Amino acid sequence: MKSNSRRSFLKQTAMAGTALTANRWFKGNVFAQSASTTARIYVDPAQKIATLERKVFGSFIEHLGRAVYGGIYEPGSRLADANGFRKDVLEEIKRMGVPIIRYPGGNFVSGYNWLDGVGPKDKRPVVLDKAWNTIETNQFGTNEFLEWCRAVGSEPLLGLNLGTGTPEMAAALVEYCNQEKGTKWSELRREHGVEKPHNIKYWCIGNEMDGWWQIGHMPAREYGLKARDCANQMRMIDPSLQLIACGSSSPGMQTYLEWDRQVLEECYDMVDGISLHCYYRNDDQETGAGGDTAKFLSFNLEMENQINEIAGVCDYVKARNRSSKKLWLSFDEWNVWYRARNGDGKRQQAPHLLEEVYNLEDALLVGGFCNSLMRHAERVRIACLAQLVNVIAPITTNADGFFRHTIYYPYAWTLQCARGEVLDLAVESPTYNVQGKGAVPYLDVSGTMDGKNVTLFVLNRDLNKARDVEVIWREAAPDKVGFSQVLTGRDLKAFNSFENPNKVAPQPFEAPKTGSKTKFQVPAHSYTVIQWSS
Ligand code: AHR
Repeated sequence: MKSNSRRSFLKQTAMAGTALTANRWFKGNVFAQSASTTARIYVDPAQKIATLERKVFGSFIEHLGRAVYGGIYEPGSRLADANGFRKDVLEEIKRMGVPIIRYPGGNFVSGYNWLDGVGPKDKRPVVLDKAWNTIETNQFGTNEFLEWCRAVGSEPLLGLNLGTGTPEMAAALVEYCNQEKGTKWSELRREHGVEKPHNIKYWCIGNEMDGWWQIGHMPAREYGLKARDCANQMRMIDPSLQLIACGSSSPGMQTYLEWDRQVLEECYDMVDGISLHCYYRNDDQETGAGGDTAKFLSFNLEMENQINEIAGVCDYVKARNRSSKKLWLSFDEWNVWYRARNGDGKRQQAPHLLEEVYNLEDALLVGGFCNSLMRHAERVRIACLAQLVNVIAPITTNADGFFRHTIYYPYAWTLQCARGEVLDLAVESPTYNVQGKGAVPYLDVSGTMDGKNVTLFVLNRDLNKARDVEVIWREAAPDKVGFSQVLTGRDLKAFNSFENPNKVAPQPFEAPKTGSKTKFQVPAHSYTVIQWSS
């Protein structure tokens, strides 16, 4: 291919094969409505979306159920180190390379007094966590979490209590964490045995304050003003902070977008980003009736709609304010979650709550979410798979170890392989119809390029058929096949457990060597990662 212009590159390939339509289904790369049964992926190294911000593959640990106690922290366990950290879990998270972890909530944070969780452990109060009706011993708090983050090599994203908490106490926590010494709160930290400041950069100003379930829930303008005051006081202590305002807790909220607009109208100039949350289900929420998997597998496109809509609100307020600052997005809670919904801890310590068991179809959609986050690398700077251990999580522990759920694999693969620049791929794919949504491409593809390494992440939403794929290289194709794996299986409802931890497990994928065109087939209902290098 000699032509320099992308348009002529696409035009030539289109003339040679199926018609490219102008019907871009969503911002990204899929040209839907291909007449051919073969899907085509056009890789042009000159076409990039953005440099991949690895923080889009972050995660989340809340004081909820067994996420902290029995998850990452279990003093007395034969698997714990001298700090009480579970060594097996710590090693696994470290190996995965989770870049950023949100803490301590979630709903928990809106009733949390951070002072209860610092200082000598024998003086810390045992309290009732009202968010999850659970007994909280406070044996694990801010300093333990930050120590654990250092051990696993993750950056912390700290949540602040904007429910029962005040801007004064939020700013006090910043001073406790980031001021070196010589002030009330920094000296308290030093008394607690932490001499050096933690220098925490990223902070969430509250959690889901639009939700009726949230402790301290309030109207948008009231929250916007409180967030503004909070941010202002925090910045007086440390002007370098990156602050995230609390956006709508899901697109299903009646106040969706209105909440975000009003909040930002009150605090736009004081914050850097806004949060997005969404959990996805494969059943009918009203009736509980069984799901529609073909539709379910398109929900990562809903995630993209949400990203575009919230970005639109940010840009509206930006323009109204005549501001030169562009906010970034923090999709800091996302996952599949609909079976283990009971959040009543019955006043127990570390109860089994929200221990969702993930099946193959959930994992495929999680792969789709990772693809979507990559494609929005120009706007989403942070995103957190909610959550990391035991609670709606990729790994589950017991006294003897842990096992990996199906969703672990696509998440771990993107952590491992997605690097460098996100490619603005052009993808032709046959489509299927989803009622109320229209044409959905069978193939959902994202790609990254790191020097001479190109990685493609391919979700095949076709429940019944393997799909032929042709990769067309705009420039010299890389000639070696590297890491290459696929997640699939006969039973979409299959899941892993302690008894059968490898029921759904990755298999090696026979990726072909490249030529100017590379052809292969992806199995029905599968998620495949293929890495090529030169
Ligand atoms: O992640 C579980 C809960 O879901 C979080 O505490 C809350 O923010 C969301 O509603």
